[in-house]
Amino acid sequence: MGKKILMATEKPFAKVAVQGIQDIFKKAGYELVPLENYKAKEDLLKAVADADGMIIRSDIADEAVLNAGAKLKIVVRAGAGYDNIDLKAATARGIVAMNTPGQNSNAVAELVFALMLYLARGAFSGKSGSELRGKKLGLQAYGAVGRCVTPIAKGFGMEVLAFDPFVPAEAMKKDGVVPAASLDEIYGSCDYVSIHIPKTKETANSINFALLSRMKKNAVLINTARAEVIDEPSLLKMFAERPDFRYGADVAPVCAAEIQEKYAGRFVFTAKKMGAQTEEANVNAGLAAARQIVAFFEKGDKTFQVNQ
Ligand code: 3PG
Repeated sequence: MGKKILMATEKPFAKVAVQGIQDIFKKAGYELVPLENYKAKEDLLKAVADADGMIIRSDIADEAVLNAGAKLKIVVRAGAGYDNIDLKAATARGIVAMNTPGQNSNAVAELVFALMLYLARGAFSGKSGSELRGKKLGLQAYGAVGRCVTPIAKGFGMEVLAFDPFVPAEAMKKDGVVPAASLDEIYGSCDYVSIHIPKTKETANSINFALLSRMKKNAVLINTARAEVIDEPSLLKMFAERPDFRYGADVAPVCAAEIQEKYAGRFVFTAKKMGAQTEEANVNAGLAAARQIVAFFEKGDKTFQVNQ
């Protein structure tokens, strides 16, 4: 029987991706209901009411949203991080939650270099800046994004270190990455530190002043992961106590206005989270999400399920 699939994207996919998603569902005999650019949660609550499945990006699928979807069987987060889905509530309702790992990683990796270059070149102010070549880049986690960052960094002539307790040293070495023994080593020895950890109970606020204050003189911190993994009072303390410290993120902190007011030239924040906002990433993640939904309904395929 034809299914109704809601695509709730406060930050819409590129047109070409929407077309591709539409084609996949059309072929399966499903109806795609787009809810793009919505501003109020009520709109999402209303739209999910008669949906069998749902595609989201960073859109919040909390208990209220999941409960409002009386027929909902599956939610696919078209992207990597699924901290926006209440997994417990999904499980309680018997809803399968999935992500599409790796599909938007290259886009995020490329943005890391946009942020690094902007800060390396003095926020394009005309002042003399510095080059990436010969600098040390430390990756906090070596997952899909870290693996995309590495060859680009090497193209720039950077040395790459990574710390990831879940990835064997041999796998890093194969990519020409130096495995670091600790996070302290990454923060203490690198010219650039790029964060690639997910937001979990354990990682939230885990990047604190004790760690940040280890950073080398003139070191730059890049965050294309989640704002919440950095403890904001610690971030503000770093800006205040270390005039050499610079920070670039596409996940602006809650305290962005204070940083903007006091520390001009030492930060860059994008207006929206835009690491994954490319046509290519939208196509990769969006179409993967659509295919996963069809495979789930037609074959019971639960690959990429992230809840129990
Ligand atoms: C992800 O977790 O995949 C990224 O943060 C991308 O998020 P977005 O789909 O909201 O751009």
